[in-house]
Amino acid sequence: MNWYINQLVHLILQNYLSIMRRHRINSICSIEPALGHSLEQVANNSFNSKELKWIEQIEDYRRLALNTTTSIEVEYLGAGHFPFRSRYQKKSTYNTHQRTIAKIARYSSTQKFGGSFLFSLIRHYQPTVGIELGTSIGISASYHGAALALNGFGKLITIEGANNIAEYARNQLSRLGLSSVMVVTGRFEDVLKDILKKYGPIDYLFIDGDHHFQATINYFNICLPSFRPHGIVVVDDIYWSKGMRNAWRTLCNYPQVKIGITLFTMGILVLQDLQGLRKLYRL
Ligand SMILES: C[S@@+](CC[C@H](N)C(=O)[O-])C[C@H]1O[C@@H](n2cnc3c(N)ncnc32)[C@H](O)[C@@H]1O
Repeated sequence: MNWYINQLVHLILQNYLSIMRRHRINSICSIEPALGHSLEQVANNSFNSKELKWIEQIEDYRRLALNTTTSIEVEYLGAGHFPFRSRYQKKSTYNTHQRTIAKIARYSSTQKFGGSFLFSLIRHYQPTVGIELGTSIGISASYHGAALALNGFGKLITIEGANNIAEYARNQLSRLGLSSVMVVTGRFEDVLKDILKKYGPIDYLFIDGDHHFQATINYFNICLPSFRPHGIVVVDDIYWSKGMRNAWRTLCNYPQVKIGITLFTMGILVLQDLQGLRKLYRL
């Protein structure tokens, strides 16, 4: 059932993007071609057969996870999606809780539409080094990894603070054969600086971890000096809370940001090039 709802939402979002926003996508294409073309590709669903095969494989993995009722022990880290916040984080005094894989897949994973967009973005933008903050069970990491595999180069370092979740994601990514994705276990605040030192400079950052205002700004600030010119940052769940809305607005106003685009729940920032031209779009 969940899968059918996911498919329906995917179709609706795709049509919306395709019909209502075409002129803005064209305009983005002229300023940032990789981003514009990836928006076009998701809007028109114009994936080739190899790309569609990967998307299907990842969605098969999601379906399997949605039906996996095994529980794992999970540490509380940053604010996550709605059910985590209301049912656990506000009330519980424990540092860990038991959570089924099905629930993690359902409430903490990027949906098919968002995953397809990230996949397409990586295909067009072709980063050499990317970082993901918040692996969870590895659905979005799989979308990134599949695109990197098709690109034939590039790597993604994805960070997850909950030990058992990180281990689960690592196994699944290896089962899918996505060797360009490396899962690092650790809290962002503890490991991010070392990762940037070791693997930087970076071209790409996907922020999908601790959904608090200050945490989001801090992670962005830590990564900013390690970006190559023209870097791309995607922030998920920008409307999740007042804090996230403020964080998104704050990030858009950084002088290093050339373009800010909202794509449903995601915010996309393109960092400056030499022209220093700034523009904000809402799709
Ligand atoms: C929304 S989920 C990530 C979903 C994943 N990107 C996807 O779409 O498949 C956020 C993850 O970030 C992790 N997380 C939150 N705060 C963290 C922190 N401070 N350090 C490390 N991991 C953290 C949580 O354990 C959770 O698994």
